[in-house]
Amino acid sequence: MTATLTVNKSIFKENIKQVTRGAAVMAVVKNNAYNFGLDFAVNTFLEEGIQTFSTTSLHEAIQIRRLAPTSMIFLMNPSVEFETLREYDIQMTLPSLSFYHQYQNELAGINVHLEYENLLHRSGFKTFEEMKQVIQENSQLPKERKLNITGIWTHFGYADEFDVTEYEQEKQAWLLGLQEMIGIHSFQYIHAQNSASFMRDDLFEQHTHARLGIVLYGCRPYSSLPETAVKQSLTLSATVIQCRNLKQGESAGYSFAYTAKTDTTVAVVDIGYGDGVLRTRSQHDCLINGKRYPIRALMMSHLLVEVDKSVKSQDKVILYGEDIRIDEYTFKGVGANSEQISALNHCSLERKMIE
Ligand SMILES: Cc1ncc(COP(=O)(O)O)c(C=O)c1O
Repeated sequence: MTATLTVNKSIFKENIKQVTRGAAVMAVVKNNAYNFGLDFAVNTFLEEGIQTFSTTSLHEAIQIRRLAPTSMIFLMNPSVEFETLREYDIQMTLPSLSFYHQYQNELAGINVHLEYENLLHRSGFKTFEEMKQVIQENSQLPKERKLNITGIWTHFGYADEFDVTEYEQEKQAWLLGLQEMIGIHSFQYIHAQNSASFMRDDLFEQHTHARLGIVLYGCRPYSSLPETAVKQSLTLSATVIQCRNLKQGESAGYSFAYTAKTDTTVAVVDIGYGDGVLRTRSQHDCLINGKRYPIRALMMSHLLVEVDKSVKSQDKVILYGEDIRIDEYTFKGVGANSEQISALNHCSLERKMIE
């Protein structure tokens, strides 16, 4: 047995149904669908009736088009490959007034969604007045030079924060501006909410889609959400290769990585940072035969886990699974859910799909 990444497709699908609660969803499939695999994710979302996708890279957008010929595909980063956008019918963010003015001619015929910057300050128009200026200037162009303003959107930077007021601020700024914008233009797509915002607030009125990532992939975006609300379909497992006894004071692993405080046993496990186990994750525990044991050292292809005499060679070691969730470690400070998932190395791990 080697270190294995298993996705249970039935659980993945059950989770989609459970978290979306019948709302219209734009599935965020960037970064190879949060490392679940773009083909797998897009096909499964399609099977579950999701017909709207977003990503940040044009090459992924093209791959989605091949998988989903009739879907709406939204590129969240701007691209200047205008011909390709037209060829593959990819809608794109309009990220600023200056981008509009710089590429006004090339943008003709492209479908764009006006992006509001808000508190994240990563991209987008500074003000709704600037967006109105685009609508006004575009309306004065001859038909063949017009771009198509099909959508409007923003992205919240604080939706998973409960102890500060920034989420309320960014929400109010957006909802207020949106009222003005829908008064002067008809938008086919209105989307703002990530997983945390949608799980907290349900789909806002007048919004056509929730733009969801992590919750579709089975992780809770914030800790006060009960575990039962989101089902994890991913299991990361490995195997005990052998158990070694250490005497008190003996060290194991490179450069005294772990020194035994008493006589003890360590299990040598066939997974390491080369497979994507984060160093921060290795400061916690893993599950062997239903019991948690502390990880004591992390190497490229191995972990040392302090165990008891019940653990034997060939026992299965679970790093992530239904009973040892990725989001548990997010809330323990290991790193964002997506950071832990993105690290997993699909080239070195054996991959299994359970239908
Ligand atoms: C612009 C944008 N929208 C939506 C999402 C989805 O966020 P989440 O994974 O929290 O649902 C992301 C993810 O980073 C994003 O960058």
